[in-house]
Amino acid sequence: MKRSKGLLIGLLTVLVVVFVWTTSYGFEAVKFGVISDMHMGMAVEGIKDEFKMTVSSVDLLRSAVNEFNKIPDLDFVVACGDLTLDAEPWNLEILKTVMDELRAPYYIVLGNHDLSPVPKPRKFPGPPPARGVTRSTFVWAFQGHGFEGPEFWWSLDPIPGLHIIGLDTNVPGTWAGHIVGAEVKWLDQDLYSNRDKLTIVFTHHGFVAWHKDDKSMKWKEYAQFVVDNAAEVQAIFDKYPQVSFVMGGHRHIGLRYKKVNDVYHIVHPAICSYPMRYTVYTLTPKELSWVSRDVPSTKDIWKRAKENIIGKPGEWWRGSDHPEGPAGDKKMLKFFEAKETMKGKLPVSFKPKRYGELGIPSEELLGVAVR
Ligand SMILES: [Fe+2]
Ligand SMILES: [Fe+2]
Repeated sequence: MKRSKGLLIGLLTVLVVVFVWTTSYGFEAVKFGVISDMHMGMAVEGIKDEFKMTVSSVDLLRSAVNEFNKIPDLDFVVACGDLTLDAEPWNLEILKTVMDELRAPYYIVLGNHDLSPVPKPRKFPGPPPARGVTRSTFVWAFQGHGFEGPEFWWSLDPIPGLHIIGLDTNVPGTWAGHIVGAEVKWLDQDLYSNRDKLTIVFTHHGFVAWHKDDKSMKWKEYAQFVVDNAAEVQAIFDKYPQVSFVMGGHRHIGLRYKKVNDVYHIVHPAICSYPMRYTVYTLTPKELSWVSRDVPSTKDIWKRAKENIIGKPGEWWRGSDHPEGPAGDKKMLKFFEAKETMKGKLPVSFKPKRYGELGIPSEELLGVAVR
């Protein structure tokens, strides 16, 4: 009996060694799409195309979905929040309908416009946003798309060797970003348990500023672009070398990136506002490369989207270095367009450790066998 138990443990050890050895390098190339800030809004009475091209939003998302569906080897798609205009139940429904047209599996992160009450209720018929859906309704509607159960945050391995995390950074009733204590604790534990896998964290609010005004109090709402406890969360990212990329939205500007310690933070353009783009990534154990492409649409929609981002004088937020007038407009458009980073690549520095280097006690690896 003792001998057979020993043989069993020996056999399991060999299996674990082989498993860890092979899955540490579990993928050669992964292709995935990222979209953000679709702000889906059905064209009910009172809805207009403004900074957010709401009347066009359903067609714009469907157009991006069609583009993803033309990529035969696309492994998955992630949507980085602000999926609806203001958490209206009818917009949740059309969002789900269009997202379900994706051929690839997709995962959902919630944005500040996806949970009631949203700030600044809009003036149009129908239930006001304060009576829109809650976070739990969203989580229920998108079970199996990251969410498994009632939690607002999630993690999974879309393919062996790659770990992805979807954070919830939202605070009901405000545009601000914050990660609550229970989620911070979960993040730390999740990263500890998955420290042999290259990890990408998806979020709505970002952890870094993209413009010098982003954390200033000049414009109250826009001072809330960055998660307010970003330093606490970055300290957790820094504990785990597998955290290689943090990908978010919320800012409605062209893709750009910033390195903080060993982590690359990447912000993504909106689908519903200029420059309306979707992004396709290719990830190998050595490199992350991308192409951020314009969403195919009519010339008229593109023209209006570009005009609307400039807006009428005094009507819309402008960076303090984008004064009103032709020169300021040009500078502002350049900032939003970020044409220089529509294509790019970044190195992957994380190398999964092999068996024996993981620092996982052997009884933890063999926990199932000896219990
Ligand atoms: Fe947004
Ligand atoms: Fe947002």
